[in-house]
Amino acid sequence: MRLEHVRLADFRNYESLDFPPASGLNVFVGPNAQGKSNLLEALAMLATGKSFRAHRESELIRSGTERAEIGGEARIAAGEIRLRCTIVRTPAGTRKSFEVNGGSVGFARFLGRARVVTFVPADLQLVSGGPALRRSFLNGALAQLSPVYYRDLALYQKVVGQKSALLRGAIAPDRDLLLAYNDELVRPATALIAARRAFVDELAAATAAIYGRWRGTRERLGVTYAPNPDGDVGEALAAAVESELRRRSTLVGPHRDDLRLLVDGTSLAAFGSQGQQRTAVLALKVAEYDVMRARTGDAPILLLDDVLSELDAERAGGFLGAVEGFEQAFLTTTELPRDLGAAATWSIHAATVTRC
Ligand SMILES: Nc1ncnc2c1ncn2[C@@H]1O[C@H](COP(=O)(O)OP(=O)(O)O)[C@@H](O)[C@H]1O
Ligand SMILES: [Mg+2]
Repeated sequence: MRLEHVRLADFRNYESLDFPPASGLNVFVGPNAQGKSNLLEALAMLATGKSFRAHRESELIRSGTERAEIGGEARIAAGEIRLRCTIVRTPAGTRKSFEVNGGSVGFARFLGRARVVTFVPADLQLVSGGPALRRSFLNGALAQLSPVYYRDLALYQKVVGQKSALLRGAIAPDRDLLLAYNDELVRPATALIAARRAFVDELAAATAAIYGRWRGTRERLGVTYAPNPDGDVGEALAAAVESELRRRSTLVGPHRDDLRLLVDGTSLAAFGSQGQQRTAVLALKVAEYDVMRARTGDAPILLLDDVLSELDAERAGGFLGAVEGFEQAFLTTTELPRDLGAAATWSIHAATVTRC
């Protein structure tokens, strides 16, 4: 897929932008704090409806204004599609609304019309950091691939939040209410685990192949899914009731599962070198791209925020080369490296984008 036109109004530091990206690799170059990451953030929101970095959505609306808009026209396998996301300040915070081809739709019907794979410096912790990062990696890809996954995830997170509030409450938790929450959790939890398992199976094959090619050794990277629970969800929740009441915390369910990364059977997080860990992260991201493309028959848009500065030239080149035949990618950088093979280079200064 490819974005053909992007329009911003009062989004972050952009008062108004009319931007026609090229196919292939678009490079955004400019000093810090000019609006490079803001633009990538806007592009990602056309696919995911959410910011990859804002803590509060009110940050997305330009200071002193009331309403931010991101509009895009994309060519996807099925034809042309027009997308729009609007964020409005309200007394309570913000309200977002979405449109597809001029008609207003709910979030679940907006999400995943365009698809992106984003890569930001924080992703370099994907192997060495905590399990929450790996779960949000899985959720980010799966929610774009399947509205059903997104709905199950949203329901699951809502009920787990209620259950956790009950357990942490000041008064002794009501056991019947806990059991009622558990009943509600079984279906979405089982569905999330099944979807993650199938996705990780595909991801593992792709990741191992890419990692092997890059490292050029016989060491084998294994990626396995570690579901919680590994077995029947209803039974595991029932078995955990007493300990959850005692510990006052939700102990069982896919909000606690993880991905395991092993090189030749030993944990990459615990024993891998930094080089091995970084190569594994890049391999996971390329694999995410490959799996998304294979499942949908359409290449996602690749968004790379400031990652070149974190990678040596060889890894960066290997990464870009491996996302073979990408239709469209966007990359931000403060200094233009040579030999990137950019289709278009844009300089960004004070929220003004000009083609170099
Ligand atoms: N809501 C907002 N209104 C106005 N300016 C904003 C808003 N949010 C962020 N900015 C400005 O955007 C700039 C940072 O842009 P960013 O895209 O992160 O920079 P970079 O080019 O380094 O990636 C900062 O100057 C910041 O003040
Ligand atoms: Mg930036």
